[in-house]
Amino acid sequence: MPSRRHFIRRSAALLGLAAAVPWLARGAFATPSQLLQRAIPASGELLPVIGLGTSRTFNVSLDDASLDPLDEVMRTFINGGGKLIDTAPSYGNAEAVSGELLRRTGTQDKAFLASKVSASGRERGMAQVAASLRALQTERLDLLQVHNLQDTRTQLGLLRELKEQGKVRYIGITHYRESAHDDLLAVLAKEPVDFVQLNYSVGERNAEQRLLPYCADRGIATLINRPFQRGQLFDRVRDTPLPDWAIEVDATSWAQLLLKFILAHPAVTVVIPATSKARYMADNLLAGHGRLPDAALRERIARAFG
Ligand SMILES: NC(=O)c1ccc[n+]([C@@H]2O[C@H](COP(=O)([O-])OP(=O)(O)OC[C@H]3O[C@@H](n4cnc5c(N)ncnc54)[C@H](OP(=O)(O)O)[C@@H]3O)[C@@H](O)[C@H]2O)c1
Repeated sequence: MPSRRHFIRRSAALLGLAAAVPWLARGAFATPSQLLQRAIPASGELLPVIGLGTSRTFNVSLDDASLDPLDEVMRTFINGGGKLIDTAPSYGNAEAVSGELLRRTGTQDKAFLASKVSASGRERGMAQVAASLRALQTERLDLLQVHNLQDTRTQLGLLRELKEQGKVRYIGITHYRESAHDDLLAVLAKEPVDFVQLNYSVGERNAEQRLLPYCADRGIATLINRPFQRGQLFDRVRDTPLPDWAIEVDATSWAQLLLKFILAHPAVTVVIPATSKARYMADNLLAGHGRLPDAALRERIARAFG
């Protein structure tokens, strides 16, 4: 097991290099990933626990000036061992940008692509999925989710057909509000799905009550959105130095503490923070390394953001 000093040195190097001369972003990626992985219960397939969200951050024009900074984010993510990219047709250009970045970086075969359907009616759902595949420059999606429970029954029927045809590997449902957790549970009670995407963070802990335990019991993979509450959680610690006890979980930033709080929940499969900056991407990846907090330390993290 690497020593704590070794871990800190490695973390600092990773962050420093990503900010200055990012080998993480530019390197030909031979380094084996040490990123923690968790199994998708439906299949046993392993996924790295740090994913990448694309809402807002990837909604840019498809010109070089806009794509270049995100190119660095994508290289840092894939080269750092990340796989799962979460996008949606309702995120403006995010699907097309994700597809183009994967093509530019030649990393299509390394990604686990998750998108969504947010349409009413079967025909509109089918047209939307076809457009997603074109935008993402792929013939197959790894995960397709019903976005915010829109027209859930119809769209889940469509998703199941696509799964049978081999166009989609896993299916799921999503929401981003605590007030919708009961609705997610009601769907799960009736409809078999592989994944649920939900909001969970130190600031939004409702999922601990029923939704996360339910997913753990029934073998449903979870994707965690809004881990930083769109970045708002950082406002609570803006002028606060990182506490000494962060080292007890090998954390070197507030972002890593927030992500480790989430990853320490046993029902969590992958957390999907979004960022437009390669240095934040490298920071977030570090949360998938080293120790995770026990129950007492998790409460300490939550109190720090109280
Ligand atoms: N209904 C749904 O299905 C649904 C709803 C919400 C979200 N989602 C998914 O979940 C993803 C994540 O949620 P989110 O985008 O709402 O917000 P989030 O990941 O909680 O927060 C993103 C914000 O955090 C900042 N950030 C990221 N890493 C950081 C770091 N290491 N240090 C400091 N700041 C950092 C980013 O800043 P910069 O922009 O400056 O990098 C960005 O503004 C979405 O992108 C989307 O894929 C799905």
